[in-house]
Amino acid sequence: MASLTLSNLPTTPTSLSSRTRSPLFSKTSSSHRFKPSCNASADENPTIILPKTPLNIHNVDRRSLLMGLGAGLYGATNLTNIGSASAYPITAPDDISQCVAATTGVQDPDNAVRGVACCPPASSTAPKPYVLPQFSTLRIRPPAQRLTPEYVEKYKSAIAAMKALPDDHPHSWKQQGKIHCAYCNGAYNQGMNGRSDLEIQVHNSSLFFPFHRWYLYFYERILGKLINDQTFALPYWNWDTPTGMMLPAMFEDPGPNGNPRTNPLFDPFRNVGHLPPTILDLQYRGTESGLNCVDQINTNLSTMYNQMVNLSTDDFFGTNPDPDIASRPGPIESGAHTAVHIWVGNPRMPNREDLGNFYSAGYDPAFYVHHGNVDRMWQIWRDLSPSNVDPSNTDWLNASYVFYDENEELVRVYNKDCVDIKKMGYDFERSRIPWIQSRPVARVKASNVAAKSIGIVKKVEEMEFPVKLDQVVKVLVKRPATNRDENAKKKAKEMLFLNEIKYNGEQFFKFDVLVDDVDDGIETTAASSEFAGTFAQVPHNHGGDKMLMTSGAAFGITELLEDIEAEADEYVLVTLVPRAGTEDASVSEIKIKLVPIA
Ligand code: C2O
Repeated sequence: MASLTLSNLPTTPTSLSSRTRSPLFSKTSSSHRFKPSCNASADENPTIILPKTPLNIHNVDRRSLLMGLGAGLYGATNLTNIGSASAYPITAPDDISQCVAATTGVQDPDNAVRGVACCPPASSTAPKPYVLPQFSTLRIRPPAQRLTPEYVEKYKSAIAAMKALPDDHPHSWKQQGKIHCAYCNGAYNQGMNGRSDLEIQVHNSSLFFPFHRWYLYFYERILGKLINDQTFALPYWNWDTPTGMMLPAMFEDPGPNGNPRTNPLFDPFRNVGHLPPTILDLQYRGTESGLNCVDQINTNLSTMYNQMVNLSTDDFFGTNPDPDIASRPGPIESGAHTAVHIWVGNPRMPNREDLGNFYSAGYDPAFYVHHGNVDRMWQIWRDLSPSNVDPSNTDWLNASYVFYDENEELVRVYNKDCVDIKKMGYDFERSRIPWIQSRPVARVKASNVAAKSIGIVKKVEEMEFPVKLDQVVKVLVKRPATNRDENAKKKAKEMLFLNEIKYNGEQFFKFDVLVDDVDDGIETTAASSEFAGTFAQVPHNHGGDKMLMTSGAAFGITELLEDIEAEADEYVLVTLVPRAGTEDASVSEIKIKLVPIA
């Protein structure tokens, strides 16, 4: 089996501090870039291989230049805008019997192997406000790839106990799996806000982190109860560090008798091409990247840097759901999080079950371990800078969801009660975050590519919007200011906005955004500064008519323009590169704005 070995990592304290907000990592003064190495055998003394920049891969699919071929009209498609369909604050219904099966409109329910009847078991009582117990010991969540054999056994026995419960038990594997479908596939509506015409959707917005935190909280407490161990803590799959960049092996262990199906963590619906030790691709686009192991790890680390560093509260969380304006997801949600879902799900299944579709994702035990790391990213982001604070608007704080708690009681939980993980009784065992040193590197400096493109590539004001994403789109975008000094940069950051991105929500959808990319036949990956970011979505399987969803995206480009020495340029050249499911997709507005730093 191949193994990954690392060097030059920041050292990490192993003891947990008792401060309320102990950093989950150690900052280091070292200016060395992280140097991963990959070797094909379990070598004790591996050679260090230095990454090379830029990455040399030939790109074959993005050379067709599209100029101004926009104005696509959506013929017979259904323009229902579920991406923005929300009212404030999002409130799950008191009466859960109003839940409807997500089968509505599914053309071929036979293809939804997990079933789309996602409603929870009936309750004779309305949900009670949930009061967090006083925890005397913290549940310390360990990284999945460093579990002791005893811990793996404990975790397996907890999942086995969950799977042994009758299906209609609120703690059963099936009911826990359904929760995700219910909150994602339109089982609940916003009747509590007088808007029963709008569904409740916990993705693509600032509800993403808090909803999944509560979901994992109860899942962990239920597992602990099932094995009679209140200290049981859910492992996290730390895909942000090289040793964690593969599916944790325990999920595919052959169980007793050498048959993986006897392993409670096994799921038959995973991509068999991505089993350990295949290296994870945090920019997965539905096809293999072709990168060698070292380049893949570096691209993953720069992806983490891009999606975690220099992000304000709105940038990191995304925006609140809003009935009138499409909300936008934060970069972890639409980036690394989506990539892991799609990378693990089985592309040969009709709906990429399990992890590759929201309706089925909750049925794979790996889902909760994946989201354990998503949850950890929230905590790490807060610890990165004193200005990284949670949303404070009341609509966010008062958004609420309904769960069966560890005592089978129906309870209502609020975002405002999940912002302190120690009050929730858990913390994370520390792991290294080498990506903090993985600031991308410019492929070409001072290329002047935007100025050279004037007259060849259209300017935004010459382009017809919405512009379709079925081909590579290049457009020149005027900057609000040039040569900003340090003071100006402290006051405001320069951001590239893509507004009203419309796409088919039933498919895996991804496109990448490049700034001042020089068209030289070499692919620009996330390891390069020119890679502004990505927008990727897990399918929702709404079925029925083609369902166009609307969302937005925003990418900080201050550091990017410094890296590529383009700060004096009046225009930037923006390239949108379709990667998956973009046939019906379009963008209505592209602009650069200075956004004040709070
Ligand atoms: Cu609710 Cu990973 O998604």
